[in-house]
Amino acid sequence: MTYRELYFKLEKQKTKYLNTTAIKTILQDDGGFSDFFNLIRHFDDEIKDIKKIEDNIARVNNGEPLQYVLGYAFFVNSNYVVNEDVLIPRQETEELAVGTLKTIIKMFGREPKIKIVDIGTGSGVLGIYLKEYFPNSTVICTDISENSLKIAKINAKNHHVDIDFRQGDMIEPIKDESEVSVVVSNPPYIGDESTVDPQTLKYEPHLALFASPKTKYYEIIMSLIDSTVLSDKHLLAFEIGEDMEDELTHIIETKYKGIMYKFEKDIYGKTRFLYIIKDEGITYAA
Ligand SMILES: C[S@@+](CC[C@H](N)C(=O)[O-])C[C@H]1O[C@@H](n2cnc3c(N)ncnc32)[C@H](O)[C@@H]1O
Repeated sequence: MTYRELYFKLEKQKTKYLNTTAIKTILQDDGGFSDFFNLIRHFDDEIKDIKKIEDNIARVNNGEPLQYVLGYAFFVNSNYVVNEDVLIPRQETEELAVGTLKTIIKMFGREPKIKIVDIGTGSGVLGIYLKEYFPNSTVICTDISENSLKIAKINAKNHHVDIDFRQGDMIEPIKDESEVSVVVSNPPYIGDESTVDPQTLKYEPHLALFASPKTKYYEIIMSLIDSTVLSDKHLLAFEIGEDMEDELTHIIETKYKGIMYKFEKDIYGKTRFLYIIKDEGITYAA
């Protein structure tokens, strides 16, 4: 059977989970095609492993996220290994990665030699992405989950970057550090299980999702502001839940009055990012 024949057969068998994106991605995976255009170029080739495709389709139809079925996810145009020990990287996190990159360039130049920490690294996407852009910088990636660090280490190896991985609770693994210029984090921030879609709830690690109260991890990371860990000029970059701006503003205004901070919206217009910047005398837009 050819890709063309199977593609149009599956298009007629679409389900809630087996949508067009899933069909294309499963066929691309079989042929090792980087994108849909490459699949089209090989549309009349014979399928390589129909049994594997059938198994993948059955798993997707069963509700398992496509990225766990295939074993990898895309993050800013690159592949990262994922399994059920790590959160599937989300589009908002891609926006955080790019926003953090741009802010680092504005603050520290294009070839900074700085110390960057990714707290709650999961599959490692944020830290690895930044290390690829800033090879002269030191990147430390931390997570409380040993299993997620195993995946992050595989991703660092696949991306040919040297990263200092540390296991531990939030800021504990960096408590003896100094001169940290950038902390980036997408910590767990969901307070209420009922707001999570059933597929995520069933398959993705709850350790990556939930926090009680939901501002808990931001408060812990923000406590670095008063410590000797950060360099004088620094950036804290966070992904946040869309309903958290008021609570986080309250925390900043009561505990860290006078610091410079900025909330940013994602491409859908939802407030999803918080950048805290200390850089004397200059105002930066993220
Ligand atoms: C929302 S996920 C983010 C994963 C990845 N950075 C991303 O953006 O795709 C949060 C991560 O924080 C980790 N985590 C949860 N509690 C933690 C803690 N107390 N200390 C350190 N990491 C923690 C989880 O294991 C998970 O990998």
